[in-house]
Amino acid sequence: MDITNYVERVERSVDYIESKLKKKPKIVIVLGSGLGKIADLLEDRIIIPYSNIPGFPISTAPGHKGELVVGDLHGKTVVAMSGRFHYYEGYSMKDVTFPIRVFQLLGVEYLFITNAAGALNPEFKIGRPMVIKDHINFMGTNPLIGPNVDKWGPRFPDMSVPYDPNLITLARTVSRDLGIKIHEGVYIAISGPCFETPAEMRMLRHLGADAVGMSTVPEVIVAKHGGMKVFGLSAITDMAVPEAVKKPLTAEEVLEVAEKTGEKMGAIIVEMVKRMDV
Ligand code: HPA
Repeated sequence: MDITNYVERVERSVDYIESKLKKKPKIVIVLGSGLGKIADLLEDRIIIPYSNIPGFPISTAPGHKGELVVGDLHGKTVVAMSGRFHYYEGYSMKDVTFPIRVFQLLGVEYLFITNAAGALNPEFKIGRPMVIKDHINFMGTNPLIGPNVDKWGPRFPDMSVPYDPNLITLARTVSRDLGIKIHEGVYIAISGPCFETPAEMRMLRHLGADAVGMSTVPEVIVAKHGGMKVFGLSAITDMAVPEAVKKPLTAEEVLEVAEKTGEKMGAIIVEMVKRMDV
């Protein structure tokens, strides 16, 4: 991969998106599998298909569209990414995280990132949102490998505070006020596309994780590298606990539960944005 080309590609996308926007978004919401409906909550929407953006990758995963939705939430301009790029689809880590660089250069300060995840913590309940307090990169690679673009961030970024503590506190308050039960925990990212074997479920739990999924961590790494503040929310769609597995897991089941859980996640995110000082 030629880094000069990559930088140029990102800058071309930024120029195009800027030409389409009247107001600059400060917040991006990345919508995970089955969570696309959250974009419908935005007012005065402008839709930008990825296929119209020069340089932008195109999404293929089920339950994902492929468009940016820019609109207002309680008077704040927000951009939602409906359709993300997964490593298991064959995208490079640079393509998986391409949109995050674009948002960084657009001046977006906050990344709200969502996903569907399996519970490794046996106490967790299917259909609850989990606030991500920390993560483990278990994908076997890192989106920052390769030449560092110094104007984008440091060669060796600090990761001691990956998820913004103020946003975690706000999420707790908001969930309590809305009467929505949430979990909190550590998300571990695997490459996928296989769901876990029972031995892998046990291993991932031993490593210190509460939920497992196939996304999010690359985007969070790049967002932190670029100086953004991050808030992560998982939809717990199934139990990745050997003793609790009753039947084979399917992507359809994950999407169905994610869609249901998405309503609660949307409510939490909207109320958080409302109460944020941006
Ligand atoms: N494992 C990995 N990824 C997932 C799962 C799971 O159980 N559920 C949703 N995404």
